[in-house]
This record gives sequence, C-alpha cells and structure tokens, in this order.
Amino acid sequence: MAKLSWQHHSRGRRLVSTSYFILATLTLLFSWSCPVLGKKKLYIGALFPMSGGWPGGQACLPAAQMALDLVNKRTDILPDYELELIHYDSMCDPGEATKLLYDLLYTEPIKIVLMPGCSSVSTLVAEAARMWNLIVLSYGSSSPALSNRQRFPTFFRTHPSATLHNPTRVQLFQKWKWTKIATIQQTTEVFTSTLDDLEQRVKEAGIEISVRQSFLTDPAVAVKNLKRQDARIIVGLFYETEARNVFCEVYKEKLYGKKYVWFLIGWYADNWFKIKDPSINCTVEQMTEAVEGHVTTEIVMLNPETVRGASNLTSQEFLAQLMSKLGGKNPEETGGFQEAPLAYDAVWALALALNKTVGPLKAKGRRLEDFNYNNKDITAEIYRALNTSSFEGVSGHVVFDAQGSRMAWTLIEQLQGEQNKSHFMIYFPLKTVRYR
Ligand SMILES: *[C@@H]1O[C@H](CO)[C@@H](O)[C@H](O)[C@H]1NC(C)=O
Ligand SMILES: *[C@@H]1O[C@H](CO)[C@@H](O)[C@H](O)[C@H]1NC(C)=O
Ligand SMILES: *[C@@H]1O[C@H](CO)[C@@H](O)[C@H](O)[C@H]1NC(C)=O
Ligand SMILES: *[C@@H]1O[C@H](CO)[C@@H](O)[C@H](O)[C@H]1NC(C)=O
Ligand SMILES: *[C@@H]1O[C@H](CO)[C@@H](O)[C@H](O)[C@H]1NC(C)=O
Repeated sequence: MAKLSWQHHSRGRRLVSTSYFILATLTLLFSWSCPVLGKKKLYIGALFPMSGGWPGGQACLPAAQMALDLVNKRTDILPDYELELIHYDSMCDPGEATKLLYDLLYTEPIKIVLMPGCSSVSTLVAEAARMWNLIVLSYGSSSPALSNRQRFPTFFRTHPSATLHNPTRVQLFQKWKWTKIATIQQTTEVFTSTLDDLEQRVKEAGIEISVRQSFLTDPAVAVKNLKRQDARIIVGLFYETEARNVFCEVYKEKLYGKKYVWFLIGWYADNWFKIKDPSINCTVEQMTEAVEGHVTTEIVMLNPETVRGASNLTSQEFLAQLMSKLGGKNPEETGGFQEAPLAYDAVWALALALNKTVGPLKAKGRRLEDFNYNNKDITAEIYRALNTSSFEGVSGHVVFDAQGSRMAWTLIEQLQGEQNKSHFMIYFPLKTVRYR
C-alpha cells in the first residue's frame, strides 16, 4: 500500500499538473483492486514450548498456523487486516520465557496479544501483561491458580482449568451414593490444587475422606497404605506414566476387583495401561486385569459431534489436516497433539474477537492498528469481545467463564472389558448427553 501510493506520487510529480485530489482517488481505487497490499498487519506474540515438561508446541504451533492461514483467507473476518504470528520456543521454562517476553515487548513490531502455553510460562506472562495493557490468550494451561482475575486481569485460556469438573465429579459421587472415599495423588502443583478444591466440595457434600496418600515418583508405599487402611473407593490423581506405576502396584497388592472402585483424574491416552514401559515389570495381561472397571473423568478436547463450526472444519477434518501438516510424524510422539484443537480454537477465538471490535472502535474513532502498550481503551474492547466469545470450535463449544477460563465438556468413561467402554458426557452444569 505504502509502496503503491509512492509510485503514484512520483508519477504525479512528473505530470506536475495532476491534482492531489485525483492522486488520492487513484490510490483508493488501487487499494480496492489490490486488497492484499492494502491489508494492515496485526502481530501475535506467541510462546510455543518445543521441549521441556510439556512440549506442546510440536502440534499446537502447526495447528495455530492452520487457523491463521484460514482466518487470513476469509473475507468476512478482519478483511482489512492480516494476522501474523511471531513465536519463540519457551521450552516450558519460566526463566527462558522471561528473556523471550522481554524480546517480544521491547522489539518492534507491537504485538496486539500474547499467546503462551504451559502453566508456569502463562503465569509469568499473564502477571506481567497488565503493565503493557496486553490481553493474554493461552491454548495450553490447566493450572487452577490461573483462574484469578485479581492477579491475571487480562488472561483467557481455551484450555479448561483442572478444577472445572470438580462439581461434576462430586455430583457423580453423590449419584453413586458414596459416603467415604480415599485419595492418592502425585505431588505436583496441578493435582494438589485440584485435590484441595475437590476436598472442599466433597466436605460440603457430606462425603468423608478416610485416607489420604501421596507420592512423588514411586507409589509403592502409598498403595500399600491404601490396602492396609482398607480403602474401597479410591480417587487417584496422577499423570499417565505414574498411573502405570500405580496400577502395577495395585496388581501386586490385589487392590482391584469387585470390592474396589478406582476413580481417576488426569489425562490418559487410549489404552495407556498397555503401553510398554520399562519402569514397570507387570505384563499387559496383569495391567489389564488391574484397571478393569476404573472410571476416568477427562476434559473433552475434541468436538465429538460432526459439525462445521466457525472455521468450517469438522473436528475429524481438522485432525486429518493436522496429520498431513505434521508430515507422517506419529501423533503419540508429537507433544501437544491432544491439545492442538485448543490452539486452533484459540486463534479463531482471537480472530473473531478482534473482528468484533472493529465496529465499536470505529464508533470511537479508533482502529486496531492504533494499539500500543499505553492504550487501555483498545484493550478493554478486545477484553469485552473475548469475554463474550461463543462459537463452535473443533474442541467443542468455545465459551469462557468470568475468570477467562474455558468451559468444556467432561467425558466420563468406565472400562468394562476389552474395547468396551461405556461412556457419557456431562456439560457442567447444564445437560447430560449419552454416547453409544
Ligand atoms: C466480522 O465483523 C463484521 C462486522 O464488522 C460482521 O459483519 C461479520 O459477520 C463478522 N464475521 C464473523 C465471521 O463473525
Ligand atoms: C517385579 O519385580 C519384583 C522384584 O523386583 C518381584 O518381586 C515381583 O514379583 C515382580 N512382579 C511381577 C508382576 O513380575
Ligand atoms: C464448508 O466446507 C464444505 C466442505 O468442504 C464446502 O462444501 C462449503 O462450501 C464450505 N462452506 C463455506 C461457507 O466455505
Ligand atoms: C465478562 O463476563 C462476565 C460473565 O462471564 C461478567 O461478569 C463480566 O462483567 C464481564 N466483563 C466485562 C468487562 O465485560
Ligand atoms: C460389553 O459390555 C456389555 C455390558 O456391560 C456386555 O454385555 C458385553 O458382553 C461386553 N462386550 C465385550 C466385548 O466385552
């Protein structure tokens, strides 16, 4: 655009008599016939962890780029703008992220929003962002601590908080008439805060917690204690690797079968208990026996319904396109594959929200490209737009709660024999939908 009008200008000077009025008209006509050249850029400053505790960027970055490509091609979303991603590898490390955040903020161009992943990195970014009047939109952070509008006033996330489903869990406990439960947790921030919140709600519901056990890496002693204290209904909070360790111990202690119920809170791939793991010496048959009947409550991250949402892709089409973009890499070995729909939907949430601000900003004589880090009113407009997000994404319906956290479905499954999961979903607190 700038280049084009300069060419006109120089031609005009050669013709001397051409009036500026005609020049302006010509420029306008040119920018209409070449809309791409007339597009103004808006920059997103993003951090994608490619390694570290959660190398989610491996799949989330390509997913975000897929969304950006589609958004930029759409003529009905931000027609005057092009979104561009400026991204670095945070390695899921807040120390590294501090340096990168500095680079993002102190080098041109101005970023209109920040998109971090990893709870520890998002905590750092979301706490600093207020000083720059920046909205932060995370695609991968589950820490319940981030649901805090005082500490993180401009934070949103398409990843639900780990405690989102605690009310649903307690409702299930009550439905199944459980009056006494035992707990075993891996001592990690996310499980500790989830369990703190759950204990509070369980107490209010009049359910007793008779035994509490925790472990750092080796669950052998904790599992033995559960057995010794005669726990029958056991709520377990741990990651998949630790879950294999726990259930190998459970097999050895015979803490399974008709007398016991295991209720797991965590994130588990299909058939997680069959995956070869050098840290356990139980066979696949033994593991399968030990996990029989266990219940899991998981956050739904992929829309189970075949609908064409805001991006006109079904969740299955999204997965197929992501796989081809990953170029044959094994999804199970690609960090963040499960969360990729959340990264894709984060970019759509942002694009739709920015699009929504164009009208109201224009009414105030402002434009998105006027944004700078001293600017509170444009931030407030983007905040309002994100706060009222509501669209069908590939991860399900996208809405945020008052703390900016994603509302989502819970998938509740019980393993009943090989390839025979009974599962149903609850969308807290509104409705229950049964599948199969
Ligand atoms: C984008 O905003 C315009 C109004 O500024 C609106 O007409 C259009 O429907 C919006 N696009 C989408 C996909 O919501
Ligand atoms: C696993 O190894 C221990 C010794 O390290 C042994 O006592 C136990 O029987 C083994 N368990 C299985 C299931 O093979
Ligand atoms: C959405 O995708 C379908 C299938 O690819 C296509 O037939 C349809 O025209 C698309 N709709 C829009 C609005 O782009
Ligand atoms: C954001 O939405 C919540 C309800 O989810 C509402 O209580 C709050 O006032 C809204 N904030 C703004 C700034 O619109
Ligand atoms: C699946 O579960 C149902 C009822 O729970 C049972 O009748 C059926 O035999 C099971 N099928 C297999 C293949 O285990």
